[in-house]
Amino acid sequence: MKSLFSETTRTMKSSLIRELVASTRNIEGLISFAGGFPSPKTFPKETLAALYQEVVSNEGASVLQYGASEGDSELKKELFKWEGYDLGQDKMLITVGATNAIYYMTRALVDPGDVVICEAPSFLGSLVAFEALGADLQAVPLDLEGIDMNALSEKVEACHKAGKKVKMIYTIPDFHNPAGLTMSYVRRKALIEYALAMNIPILEDNPYSRLRFSGEPVPTLFRIAHEEYRNNSIVMEVVSFSKILGPGMRIAYAKGDSELIERMCSWQQKVNITPDCVSQRVTARFLSGGYMQPHLDKTCDFYRPYLNRMLSAMATSLPPYIQYTRPEGGIFTWLWLPEDMNADSLFEKAKAHKVSFIPGSKFYPSGQEKFNCLRLNFSYSTVEQIDAGIKALGQMMEEFYT
Ligand SMILES: Cc1ncc(COP(=O)(O)O)c(C=O)c1O
Repeated sequence: MKSLFSETTRTMKSSLIRELVASTRNIEGLISFAGGFPSPKTFPKETLAALYQEVVSNEGASVLQYGASEGDSELKKELFKWEGYDLGQDKMLITVGATNAIYYMTRALVDPGDVVICEAPSFLGSLVAFEALGADLQAVPLDLEGIDMNALSEKVEACHKAGKKVKMIYTIPDFHNPAGLTMSYVRRKALIEYALAMNIPILEDNPYSRLRFSGEPVPTLFRIAHEEYRNNSIVMEVVSFSKILGPGMRIAYAKGDSELIERMCSWQQKVNITPDCVSQRVTARFLSGGYMQPHLDKTCDFYRPYLNRMLSAMATSLPPYIQYTRPEGGIFTWLWLPEDMNADSLFEKAKAHKVSFIPGSKFYPSGQEKFNCLRLNFSYSTVEQIDAGIKALGQMMEEFYT
């Protein structure tokens, strides 16, 4: 059969993170900071169970039927109310997770060989999708305020000089996966202005902005473009409910340019026909029933102590030459090790000591990796495990480095 596989399928990479996590699955007593799952304790199970029952009983004739490819209009109405501004139904597409929205946008814009700019590091799930679709992925480093604007313009200029088309800039501005960073307001404006000047669309991947445990929210790129530049087209924002309601529901939405939404919808028609109609209507009722804000407050209250514990364990137990991000939300922190310390080798050592994390090299496009960095997740371990795991990691770093 293999000889029949298409070129794309033969050369397609899988997400190495799943394989890494699988390699530690049978280690008894393992403290894992590796995964990216939300805590199942945050899922609003009772409310969702009641809403699924209600929706299927009362609206089953319509929601068990094939639905619209562009998504449930009732859900879109509720989403616009939730966000506080109505763009019109043609500027929103409901999708099967953010993963599908990202895939459709890339499908709609990128021909093989076209450039997609991503941040370095970035979310591996998107990087492998861009690569599978033939994109020439070019990584631009992050600093503490977000994407490095000088490096971005140099990169785009170099691509143009080489005769390449730059089709989009992929960014995760809030509680970045994997870097834990939030892009500053000033940097957001600079990025929008640059994108407008160069006519390069921005794909704003936003699964985490509502998981803020402290500090002031920064408006999304989409909102800034909408409110301050009166532009609804330069940014395509993709919001996922995976970390809010539960990734099993596979509900997300994209909003932005209506022509692009129409083309993305046309891909959705071919791939899925429609997102799950029952889950869409349940999400609509979750919003209209007023459950969302109390649920978000509860979820943030749940996660906050884990983040605080992780930050204080790192302050106490990590060697002084380790730099790390101090997020105010999300589910990840990111560590910078000294230049000559390799996190892939540290991973093997840590695994033997029953601690795991994801080596940072996995979050870069092929050939553009950095090896002196790693990602820690704080949403899945107990506070005791956080203390013990970070202490063990600090000791291993000292042994490794001396
Ligand atoms: C930055 C980022 N984008 C997209 C996704 C995928 O989201 P979804 O479950 O909505 O497909 C994730 C999931 O971890 C993520 O961290």
